[in-house]
Amino acid sequence: MKKLAIAVIPGDGIGKEVVPEALRVLDAVAEIHGGLEFDYSHYPWSCEYYIEHGEMMPKDGLEQISQSDAIFLGAVGDPSLVPDHVSLAGLLLKIRREFQQVINVRPAKMLEGMVSPLSRPENFDIMIVRENSEGEYSSIGGRVHSGEDEVVVQNAVFTKKGVSRVMQYGFEIAQQRGGSLTSATKSNGIAHSMPFWDEVFNELSANYPDVKTNSEHIDALSAFFVTKPQTLDVVVASNLFGDILSDIGAAIMGSIGIAPAGNINLNGKFPSMFEPVHGSAPDIYGKGIANPIGQIWTAKMMLDHLGEPEMGALVLLAIEETLQQGIKTGDIGGNSNTKEVTDAVIAALKRKSN
Ligand code: NAD
Ligand code: IPM
Ligand code: MN
Repeated sequence: MKKLAIAVIPGDGIGKEVVPEALRVLDAVAEIHGGLEFDYSHYPWSCEYYIEHGEMMPKDGLEQISQSDAIFLGAVGDPSLVPDHVSLAGLLLKIRREFQQVINVRPAKMLEGMVSPLSRPENFDIMIVRENSEGEYSSIGGRVHSGEDEVVVQNAVFTKKGVSRVMQYGFEIAQQRGGSLTSATKSNGIAHSMPFWDEVFNELSANYPDVKTNSEHIDALSAFFVTKPQTLDVVVASNLFGDILSDIGAAIMGSIGIAPAGNINLNGKFPSMFEPVHGSAPDIYGKGIANPIGQIWTAKMMLDHLGEPEMGALVLLAIEETLQQGIKTGDIGGNSNTKEVTDAVIAALKRKSN
């Protein structure tokens, strides 16, 4: 029996609704597989936890989850309880940074049964490879002066190692997909792109002669996501550019409620973490109407990562069958609730495995 230790952190808001649903799907996967067992450890780290304990996770929190095979996270953030910069820095961003999850992979593709807001979406299939540990998200900087002369400085950190690493990852995925790699740059206006990011990209491209490359300015590229997404394949971007592009990718797929992500540790020293692109959606929390597909597709990415790509593929097929049946939550034009969508995915999964 293959036993996988999964650290489960539902977090805040709809994270608490969609994570248990995705675990039901994983349980069905284990049943179908026959030789697979998930050993879940549940951690209540969240803004409510902060109110009780004065911190988002215990002092030895990272240690507690460091031996897991993977971390499965919902969403973090409840601004009504804790300011976002405190909650995110104390949990999500802390895990990403301390566990050296330097890459964030975020697919955006047209699923069967989904309706895109684009009038001619065609069949785009984009993989965003987001740098996940440095760039614009450094904690270096702060407030300088105060009062009328107040100035805030936030340093962006771009290391040759970090930039090369994320680009190499992008090249390798492009190679596996037999596709192309687009670099998101701002070499016409921002020092870290000008010419550093572009130089590293050009240097590395010599090692991958079979991968077609191009560089696009981030502003123009954002527009291309909307006007011609089918021309894009793998897109490598800095931390902030990748963050923004992945919400555009989610939007053109039809809803942020379906977009998955994986925070990947490359050196094997720490577990990787899987969480959807969306946040805690306080506006719909508690109504049972959150779309669980982002979290379920995220579970599929975790299965792929843990060496179960056949099971992962089956989960995605079951998602598509559910969408094609019109069993959808309100954000994508349906009137089913969170549980009904999950039930349908599980039923499709069981049908497909027979
Ligand atoms: P959000 O993604 O939570 O919500 C944006 C919009 O999308 C809302 O209208 C919401 O209802 C909708 N939405 C999101 N997920 C959905 C789903 N599964 N089904 C249906 N509709 C869905 O982004 P926000 O409003 O900017 O942030 C809310 C909170 O979440 C903040 O505290 C923010 O910092 C946090 N956040 C956390 C993460 C994370 O943990 N990875 C990501 C983004 C935002
Ligand atoms: C995401 C989120 C986070 C990010 C926030 C909540 C800090 O937007 O995972 O996309 O910017 O990385
Ligand atoms: Mn984001």
